[in-house]
Amino acid sequence: MEDNPRFFDLVGNVRSMRRLKPDPIPESLLMKVLNAGVQAPSGMNSQPWAFLVLRRSEDKHWFADRYRDASESRFGNRDSLTEGNSPMARQFRVLQYQMNHMHEFPVLVMVCGLRDWAFKAPESERVGLAPPNYGAVYPCVQSILMACRGVGLGAALTTMHQVFENELMERFRIRWNTVS
Ligand SMILES: Cc1cc2nc3c(=O)[nH]c(=O)nc-3n(C[C@H](O)[C@H](O)[C@H](O)COP(=O)(O)O)c2cc1C
Repeated sequence: MEDNPRFFDLVGNVRSMRRLKPDPIPESLLMKVLNAGVQAPSGMNSQPWAFLVLRRSEDKHWFADRYRDASESRFGNRDSLTEGNSPMARQFRVLQYQMNHMHEFPVLVMVCGLRDWAFKAPESERVGLAPPNYGAVYPCVQSILMACRGVGLGAALTTMHQVFENELMERFRIRWNTVS
């Protein structure tokens, strides 16, 4: 079988893109990208993901404000970190841009997952809520990032919103489900 050079070009060029234009994303393009996400593999083909898509300005502002707070408390004042031309300084500059402009990005997609005990956890130790099974949704997340690249959209994976996860879930009425 012959290699598909376009695939290797795509997979080798999926980069975090954080300076994003505010231009609206057509619904059909968004669906195309999310449809690529849901083709990802999952344990027992359980497809344990759901999407929260923020497009309304007030929702994006709400999210971006909390993201900035979480980011600042994680990294403190970044001004000194952004000076110069080192790879780290350049990285912090673009992270700062992302943080300050997040409310302008056309779409913020939250990939939600489930709580699930690790297969190896003995029944007797399964007390209280199962831990979030983040690993189960990353194939879907990666497919979404690749699909964005494939259709010419910029995107970046972020996880900082875990800091305000409870507030996020309350505002958008998301409940933790466990695998049944
Ligand atoms: C598990 C995981 C968590 C990440 N969390 C964040 C994050 O909170 N904020 C962010 O800006 N990028 C986050 N990233 C993106 C990485 O910073 C990025 O992929 C990495 O620096 C490599 O850069 P590249 O994607 O341009 O190749 C995360 C990536 C992974 C895989």
